[in-house]
Amino acid sequence: MTSTSTETPAIAGLDRALVQALSTVRRNIGAFGSAYPDDTTTGDRYPLRPAHKGFPVGANQGWTTSFWPGTQWIAFELTGDAEFRDAALGHARDFARRVHDEEDLETHDLGFLYTLASVAPWRLLSDQASRAAALRAADALMRRFLEPAGIVQAWGDLSDPAQRGRTIIDSLMNMPLLTWAFEQTGEERYADAVRRHTTQLRAHILREDDSTFHTFYWDAETGEPLRGGTEQGAFDQSCWARGQAWGIYGFALNHKATGDPELLEASRRSAEYFLAHLPSDRVPFWDLVYTDGSDAPRDSSAGAIAVCGLLELAELETDPALADRWRAEARGILTSLIANYAPETPEASDALILHSVYDLPKDNGVDEGTLWGDYFYLEALMRAARPDWTPYW
Ligand code: GLY
Repeated sequence: MTSTSTETPAIAGLDRALVQALSTVRRNIGAFGSAYPDDTTTGDRYPLRPAHKGFPVGANQGWTTSFWPGTQWIAFELTGDAEFRDAALGHARDFARRVHDEEDLETHDLGFLYTLASVAPWRLLSDQASRAAALRAADALMRRFLEPAGIVQAWGDLSDPAQRGRTIIDSLMNMPLLTWAFEQTGEERYADAVRRHTTQLRAHILREDDSTFHTFYWDAETGEPLRGGTEQGAFDQSCWARGQAWGIYGFALNHKATGDPELLEASRRSAEYFLAHLPSDRVPFWDLVYTDGSDAPRDSSAGAIAVCGLLELAELETDPALADRWRAEARGILTSLIANYAPETPEASDALILHSVYDLPKDNGVDEGTLWGDYFYLEALMRAARPDWTPYW
């Protein structure tokens, strides 16, 4: 495993960061076995996922379990080591069981879950059982597509009027599962849902000043757009850092899927706002309302997502000067993540990257490692090491 690009300027510490991350992934495979770690660390150590609503400790439930096999798939691609592949394939079998048994599917996050757990093994190994599982998951996601609003509803009980017309910016990252299902089956309904949902988010969740709402509500009966708000940000009009990072990456990926130039522009606008609100070390506070001098926690996971999004945006960019700029900004953030946010040694934490925030208003996972932070940090390292890498999204 070495970084292979000769065109891209070297990133300080990249090779060492890769070696360290892979060592931690290897140790965690030994520690967790076929069970799933919790969403976030507690004191920089991952407990097993706690028992919840009838699920036992370590079960495959919630929205983040796929980031663990996703991390293993990248480790496998970097090394060719069968230990990573076999661990990830074990999880792929469990994800096939989960969707077959209709277990804990009531969420738009089926995109995060099944892109990494099932589309990845299909792409890498032509694994047929994973293809079937991912198609089933895409159909479960389609059950959340609401007419006449033309959105994929986010969470919770679809019959609850308070939740029924709600979506969130994170949902942009769930659309690639539907795009993949369209590519596999040729069924227009998947592509149509992607086009309509992303058009609605571009029009309403992206604000005039290029910041984003975390969540937005539509009248589910009439389709009328109602209001934006937040769930995990500082306040309704603030800009939750991870949401803005999902916007950079998600609008870019959906531009690639649809060819819609307005989604390319939406990704650029999200990027401009994000970059203009970074502190001097280039890793965001958990909400972009905070700036240098604040003692608010950082969200390194938002930084890692933004690196991946900026590098994807650079690939799709029609303006070469802008593409260079996105790559340079991505390098700056990644260099700081490696130098300032990775554990000093692999033994210092179970997480690949420290100092993320899950949900500060609910005091959940504040200044901890997170499964998605680890995944996107390793994806960012992979993208830096191998610029021709094919994403799972
Ligand atoms: N998708 C939920 C989060 O980013 O916290």
